[in-house]
Amino acid sequence: MDTKIIVLVNQKGGCGKTTIVMQLAGALGREGKKVLVVDADPQGTATGWAKSADDKNPFPATISGLSSMGDKVHREVKRHVGQYDFIFVDCPPAVDSPVPQSALMIADMALVPVIPSPADLLATNGIQALISRMQDVNESMKAYVVPNMVTTTKIAKKAIELLHRFGMKITTAGLSYRTAFRESTYIGGTVFDLKNEGADKAQAEVTALKNELLKIMKSSV
Ligand SMILES: Nc1ncnc2c1ncn2[C@@H]1O[C@H](COP(=O)(O)OP(=O)(O)OP(=O)(O)O)[C@@H](O)[C@H]1O
Ligand SMILES: [Mg+2]
Repeated sequence: MDTKIIVLVNQKGGCGKTTIVMQLAGALGREGKKVLVVDADPQGTATGWAKSADDKNPFPATISGLSSMGDKVHREVKRHVGQYDFIFVDCPPAVDSPVPQSALMIADMALVPVIPSPADLLATNGIQALISRMQDVNESMKAYVVPNMVTTTKIAKKAIELLHRFGMKITTAGLSYRTAFRESTYIGGTVFDLKNEGADKAQAEVTALKNELLKIMKSSV
């Protein structure tokens, strides 16, 4: 089995790393793909998320807690290569921790969620530097910014424009600011488990992001 390893990183806390991991992992899992989520964050958010699911509707991906692995995350992830279609690694909000560095050594793709706001843009410097250093070692690794909590404000539009100017690749699909993304955490599932108004838009956004990423990864082989 060809396994794709996708690592979510950013030094900025609360930008949506765990949300994007869980929505993408869940979307692929419910399509029948074998998906592993490695929770490499000592906060254990992904682990807690999946635990909130009820027994009748378990989270459609395997979650493995590895927060104590430090710089050995890549070794642990490598042990599972071949057993899954996708392995997502959810990193803690840090660049100086050994965890993101270790995970980026073996990533096929690094995803950096960024909230399009001036403060969040300024905080992307450190992660850009880490990614480019890791691309010297892991040359085939692709790296993309994923806009998250996007709003229709002028500031958000300007922020996306600026990111392009910084020379970072940005996915066309992003996630808007929607309560459905928060609600799915409480039920231990994804936006695909929600039926209320607004959930359909959130589902369409996750599907568009998933399809764009699959296309990018396909074009790399
Ligand atoms: N697109 C979105 N719309 C609305 N709320 C969102 C969205 N993305 C994330 N959130 C909410 O923002 C908060 C932070 O998101 P999340 O936990 O995914 O970030 P994180 O980068 O993993 O944080 P940390 O750095 O602490 O690990 C959560 O309450 C989450 O539900
Ligand atoms: Mg998190």
